[in-house]
Parts: sequence; C-alpha cells; structure tokens
Amino acid sequence: MKLAILSRNSKLYSTRRLVEAAREQHHSVRVLDPLRCYMRIASDGFTMHYKGRPISGYDAVIPRVGASVTRYGTAVLRQFELMDSFSPNSSDAILKARDKLRCHQLLAAQGIGMPATVFGDNPDDTVDLLSMLGPPPHVIKLNEGTQGAGVMLTEKPSASRGVIEALRGLYANFLVQEFVAEAEGADLRCFVVGGRVVAAMKRQAPKGDFRSNLHRGGTARGVKASVAEKAVAVRAAQVLGLGVAGVDLIRSKRGPLVLEVNASPGLEGIEEASGVDVAGEIIAYVAGSLPPLKPAVGRARRRAKAIA
Ligand SMILES: Nc1ncnc2c1ncn2[C@@H]1O[C@H](COP(=O)(O)OP(=O)(O)O)[C@@H](O)[C@H]1O
Ligand SMILES: [Mg+2]
Repeated sequence: MKLAILSRNSKLYSTRRLVEAAREQHHSVRVLDPLRCYMRIASDGFTMHYKGRPISGYDAVIPRVGASVTRYGTAVLRQFELMDSFSPNSSDAILKARDKLRCHQLLAAQGIGMPATVFGDNPDDTVDLLSMLGPPPHVIKLNEGTQGAGVMLTEKPSASRGVIEALRGLYANFLVQEFVAEAEGADLRCFVVGGRVVAAMKRQAPKGDFRSNLHRGGTARGVKASVAEKAVAVRAAQVLGLGVAGVDLIRSKRGPLVLEVNASPGLEGIEEASGVDVAGEIIAYVAGSLPPLKPAVGRARRRAKAIA
C-alpha cells in the first residue's frame, strides 16, 4: 500500500517505528507534516498540496496528531478521508477522544465503568456540584490536559473549592472526579489495535504522586491484562470508533474503570515494557483493512460517510 504518516516530526520514536515497520512489510511510506498540508475544498473534488506539490493516491493515512494541532490536524485528516484514504482513527473519532467530557459521556452511556465525574459552569453551583460527587479526596482535571499535567488531587473541601475557583478565573474547562484510592498510583495502559489488546503495561506513579504518567516520572512494566480488562479496553476503543487506541484503566474495587482513551498513543513506552512489535501490529492492521478495490460507488459512499 501507499501509506502516509501524519506527524510533525519524523524523528520521533513512534513515527520512526511506524516507518520502519511499514518498510519491513514492503509498503511505500512517507511522513507528512500536517501543518505543511494545505487543501482545496470544492463540490467538484478535494485536492491537497504538500510543500508546493500536489499529493494524492494514498491508500492509508496513519495520524499521529498531537494535542496542540488537533484542529488543523483533524481537518487535514478529514481531507484525506474525502480523498479516499483509509485511516485507522477517523478525524471524528480523534475529536471525540480528545475531549474528556464528551468521551466520558459516550463511554458511560454504553455502560463502561469509569470514576464518577461532575462538571459545571457557574461558581454559585460549586458547593452543590461537589455534593453530587461526595466527600474528598477529589481529582480535578483540565478538560484538554495530557501527560498528567493539569491533573490535581484535593484532599479537603476547601481545597476543591479553591482549585475550582482558580480554574474558573483562568477560563479553563475542567472536570472533577472521585479519587480511586485503591489504585495506589497505578494504572494499566491497554494498547488496542483493530479490536484486540496487542500489548499492556502497568504504570506506577513515583513516590509521593498519584499520577502514573511516564512524563511525570512514572515507571512501566509489561503485564498481561485480565479478560475483563481487555474486554473493557476493546469496547471503549470501539465506542469511540478508534482502530488504534491507548486505553488507560485503573483497577478498582468495582472492576476496571476507564480513565481515558488516547487516540495517538506513544509507542516507545509500550514497546519497551512489553517487548511487542506494536508498530508492526498497526501496519498489518491498516494494510488488512483496505478495501480490495475502489469502485466509484464505494468512493461516493465513503465520501458521504466522511462528511456525515
Ligand atoms: N479518578 C482518579 N483516581 C485515581 N487516580 C487517578 C484518577 N484520575 C487520574 N488518576 C491518575 O492520574 C493520571 C493522569 O490522569 P489522566 O486522566 O490519564 O490525565 P492525562 O490525560 O493528563 O494523562 C492517571 O494515569 C492516574 O494514574
Ligand atoms: Mg493519562
């Protein structure tokens, strides 16, 4: 297949590994910086240029779109979808996953376990909002934070109120959650590819922190997820429509709870911890998902679906 990887930096570990795996599996592959893709949108067709030249004919695109370029990156990806490229994660699915609030609503609506969560807008409602959650400790999260930055633990009601007031003063969107103490600073990253957990790792927060993100100094080791954990992870990716996803679970007294679903999960930590060729799994899944041929009717149908 002719494959493009949408990534801002071809030197990043995940991007390099995907290129390597694509070449190993005898595909043609090119890394495209999404911010250098520009496009023409018209009712008679969709075209794309890259650094001064037209590009087309990509069978598949693997988006590695960072949070800072979500908006432009997903617009570029949508253009590729309209030009008949397959993407394991559609632009819409990425947008759903990036918004924690929306993601929580969609997952909870499907009966997927998650920490109880509240959110609200008006400062006059803060006390009642917190009473809907129960007593502290509370976990307060910026709605669009990543890598553990913007996740805070408050142990007293006055602290919860203070942090919420401060965030409102900054016009930040946030949500407040019950603190799952029994997780003891650990979470479980399940790497889902094509409806299967291909690798899993347990991450442990450093001493004195409750956040297990590797960027916050957490440590990781490969583990086997339980049947129940795998089922929840696969279901969460499916609900959001993600072919490739990093689903973070915490182990609680009432079973596995989904913390978040990452639409552009990093490969370095998981490949190192698990020893699995995750990049190879992704490439094989993408190649196996391509339609055998592209009749004009199918193309029109896919186009209608992409803009629905
Ligand atoms: N409700 C919670 N109870 C206990 N620990 C939590 C809770 N929410 C988050 N954490 C811890 O904080 C880390 C970061 O939270 P997360 O929601 O994944 O935000 P981010 O997108 O910044 O990674 C998690 O990996 C987990 O270790
Ligand atoms: Mg996380």
